[in-house]
Amino acid sequence: MSVQLPSPYYNDDKKSFAYPTVHKRWPTIIEGAIDDLNQANSAKKTSSGEQIVAQLKQLLADFKNDGLVQSFSEAQISANADLAFYNTHLETLNGLKKVTWLTGPWLYLECYLYQLIHAFFLEHTEWRNYDIFERLKNKTFRQSELGVLELSKRYEVLNKQLTTEKVDDESLQILFSEFIDISLWGNATDLSLLAGNVTLEDIKSVQGAEVRKKNEKNILANDLPTAWKHLVSGKNSRIDIVLDNSGFELFADLIFTLFVLDSKLVNEVHLHCKEIPWFVSDTMPKDFDALLDQLVDPTFYSTVQKNKDDAHSLQLLHSKLAEYHQQKKIVVQHHGFWTLSCNFWDIPKFDDLYEELLKSDLVIFKGDLNYRKLTGDLNWEKTTPFLTAIQDLAWSKLPVLSLRTCKADVVVGLPEGVNERLIEEYKAAGNEVGEFWTSSGKWAVISFSSGTGVSA
Ligand code: F6P
Ligand code: MG
Repeated sequence: MSVQLPSPYYNDDKKSFAYPTVHKRWPTIIEGAIDDLNQANSAKKTSSGEQIVAQLKQLLADFKNDGLVQSFSEAQISANADLAFYNTHLETLNGLKKVTWLTGPWLYLECYLYQLIHAFFLEHTEWRNYDIFERLKNKTFRQSELGVLELSKRYEVLNKQLTTEKVDDESLQILFSEFIDISLWGNATDLSLLAGNVTLEDIKSVQGAEVRKKNEKNILANDLPTAWKHLVSGKNSRIDIVLDNSGFELFADLIFTLFVLDSKLVNEVHLHCKEIPWFVSDTMPKDFDALLDQLVDPTFYSTVQKNKDDAHSLQLLHSKLAEYHQQKKIVVQHHGFWTLSCNFWDIPKFDDLYEELLKSDLVIFKGDLNYRKLTGDLNWEKTTPFLTAIQDLAWSKLPVLSLRTCKADVVVGLPEGVNERLIEEYKAAGNEVGEFWTSSGKWAVISFSSGTGVSA
């Protein structure tokens, strides 16, 4: 007997973060993209560049007028076969209710939006590989100088400890929690949430050890001890990270990666990237390469580079990362699945990806969008067990660990009464919609499923 699933979040639900997203954040992101493109095109003055600007402006108008969402054309599909999948999905959704920009299902439309923007660029040979968000990604990573330096210093101490002292199991578990924490809160720097207007203060307010300490109590569900037990009781050979944002978050994930490799907790870490510019700041393979270069580029972190000790910390990080990468202990992968509109309980239907992930002892899913796709972005009761919300993935044999700061509506696995308390608290703090605590980025969840269908 199939059980009825909850409905998804829709863009016209004023109590959903979809509403401000479609009315304010998407337009801001598109306007930013237009500015970037005008800047990039100002020297070249290509008519193709102007054509893309016109398409982006049309998109802004379509949002305003609540236009019908169109299927991708044959020409667009021949440039990117994944778009056929979007058309099939759209047909199913249209069968339920005509999909328009302001009323359709949030998750599908947000994925569709980034594919549509990419399709505009794919039409023109000279723009095929252009990343419209690259300038913004780099700018924000440059502004993360203090956070980067702080973590580099922490890594330097760790590296020394691991090479000179014998670390017992208890200390290893404590270190594991610390570096997971670094990776988790690295997700708080997200350009699509900050929607372009990032100040240095914004960045400092979400990076750094002090902030992480303060935020400890904001982790509302924490399955990390179970995940740890699972990891150390297995063959401990490989961790996979389904990455989220490039820049500071990727940097934090790489610090975690160095910890698990240096400590010999595992032998390999596989990093899974997006193939196209995605949700503004998501990591593409070239962003990994760029980050490595930026760490030792004398002009990138010029203040850090001027101080010999600080420069040495970055140099150490760079050489360790480059060495592991070269030894294939860090493997950078990409797959078109990550930019489809699928829920992650569909992973087993994608044979090549599924087989690859089955080789892993722990698959870490970073960030908000990955969590939305793990749980289908459905309107689950907040007390629903994580294993219920991820559906077939719970029996898939894939050991899943989700590290997520909450930036959207869906949250599961909460103890009774927590949601109600936070709605009240968030309202009392002067916010109009109490329910939006879930999308403020101030709270987090760490959720685990062993893949055997039982909560270990
Ligand atoms: O703030 C909401 C949002 O744009 C969501 O649409 C999306 O899930 C999220 O931000 C992206 O965040 P992350 O980079 O953590 O996946
Ligand atoms: Mg992201």
